[in-house]
Amino acid sequence: MEYLLGLDIGTSGVKTLLISLEGKIISNKTTSYPLATLHPGWAEQSPYDWWEATVNAIKEIVSNAYIDTNQIKGISLSGQMHSSVFLNEKMEVIRPAILWSDTRTSDQCTEIYAKAGGLDQLIHYVSNPALEGFTAPKILWLKEKEPENYQKVKYILLPKDYIRYRLTNELFTEVSDAAGTLLFDVIKKRWSTSLLEKLEIDKNLLPPVLNSFDLAGRITKNIADQIGLKFGTPVVAGGADNACGAVGSGITEGGRVMVSIGSSGVVLAQTNNPQADQEGRIHLFNHSCPDSWYMMGVSLSAGISYEWLKKKLFNNILDYIKLDQLAEEIEPGSEGLIFLPYLYGERTPHTDANARGVYFGISGKHDQRHFTRSILEGVTFALKDSLELIKNKGVKIKEIRAIGGGAKSRVWQQILADVLGEEINLLNVEEGPAFGAALIAGVGVGVYDSFTEVVNRIIKVKKTIVPGIQNTEKYNQYYQLYKKLYYSLKEDFKELKKLISPI
Ligand code: XUL
Repeated sequence: MEYLLGLDIGTSGVKTLLISLEGKIISNKTTSYPLATLHPGWAEQSPYDWWEATVNAIKEIVSNAYIDTNQIKGISLSGQMHSSVFLNEKMEVIRPAILWSDTRTSDQCTEIYAKAGGLDQLIHYVSNPALEGFTAPKILWLKEKEPENYQKVKYILLPKDYIRYRLTNELFTEVSDAAGTLLFDVIKKRWSTSLLEKLEIDKNLLPPVLNSFDLAGRITKNIADQIGLKFGTPVVAGGADNACGAVGSGITEGGRVMVSIGSSGVVLAQTNNPQADQEGRIHLFNHSCPDSWYMMGVSLSAGISYEWLKKKLFNNILDYIKLDQLAEEIEPGSEGLIFLPYLYGERTPHTDANARGVYFGISGKHDQRHFTRSILEGVTFALKDSLELIKNKGVKIKEIRAIGGGAKSRVWQQILADVLGEEINLLNVEEGPAFGAALIAGVGVGVYDSFTEVVNRIIKVKKTIVPGIQNTEKYNQYYQLYKKLYYSLKEDFKELKKLISPI
């Protein structure tokens, strides 16, 4: 039997997935690593932790699956987007990576607009607005706040590109992750030299850019000996986790929309006709399939909000199954309790790092069950914000497919269908970005003819969740109020920011 190996360098851990060419899961291992929050709004991880977790996960998967590693035809990688790996000339990590969820760079975003010549001009260069999570503001932050570190920087990589470098000794990125740096001309598919010049960032710090399905290197002898893979196994470039998640759920052609409830919440629609949102409310990034792009809205705290409830409000006493049961005991609308999921600020649609989470409408009758259900509903309202923007861009939606940990929860699936007022399809494969990465490996090494051929053959709709008309009507009313709340509080969030000691 022949196999493909997909890796996903995520925010909570690395997922390693071995599949057969028919898409059957042979072995699967997730190894987690810590996230450091030194100050409110900061989020950092050590690239060495990613590497150690990757090595351990691959070793284990290879030995547990009892397979002949000669039969692994290709490997590819997916990874958290935007997070910055700063390397010195010896290819050592200079400081911990600043992650996509880190919001310390508001001043640098303002600076980017000023240097680029405003939002219109920035969109003209890179098709996206300056957001705290993207890579370019992190580079400027390093330059300003840690000049001694910046002087040492020889290369800047994205997470999965760093891991690929360790596997192959070759330095590359590819279009879907380059797009998230805010330094890449998404339409012309090359680094934006105009913007790089304006921001005074040396283009030589950035690696060459491949297609996601290009061969990026081969497993080196050293690594082969260390982790048990075969020397010379082809490693295909891979993609950003959202692009890979989309491939892994068959979002490779127009009209299919992916809703992903992972740490972040994502609504993503494929397009062959790239058009940036002039107001910068939704992102436009390169997809992993040839000549393909996607529009995407991101809600920063989706699964993160539920995890916060579980850990911080319930002290980890209940697991997610028990929490889901609590949520199910309460009617749609949580009897008037509305949650704004802005624990770490928000991207789509507000692009506001000052926003914070809110429970609105607490009354004496509300108990743990309402607080639980309201989180699921609030996160789903945030996803609806993104879907509405995508619909307003003229995208004709034929089908919505839900993926991610949150989409495995029965109660959340129904809330999703009810709040969006749309049928939600669940898939036979629920392995997310790592599965997409494995398929990209297969296209890259030529065991599959094309993305369209393989996804339509392997990825099937397993179940459809139908919205309840009455629930949708009720949620529409709640959604109107939900939308107003942010605008009522916008200025107050700024006041709050001043009260929390600025760094
Ligand atoms: C996308 C984004 C997140 C991360 C999560 O722009 O920031 O979805 O990719 O890993």
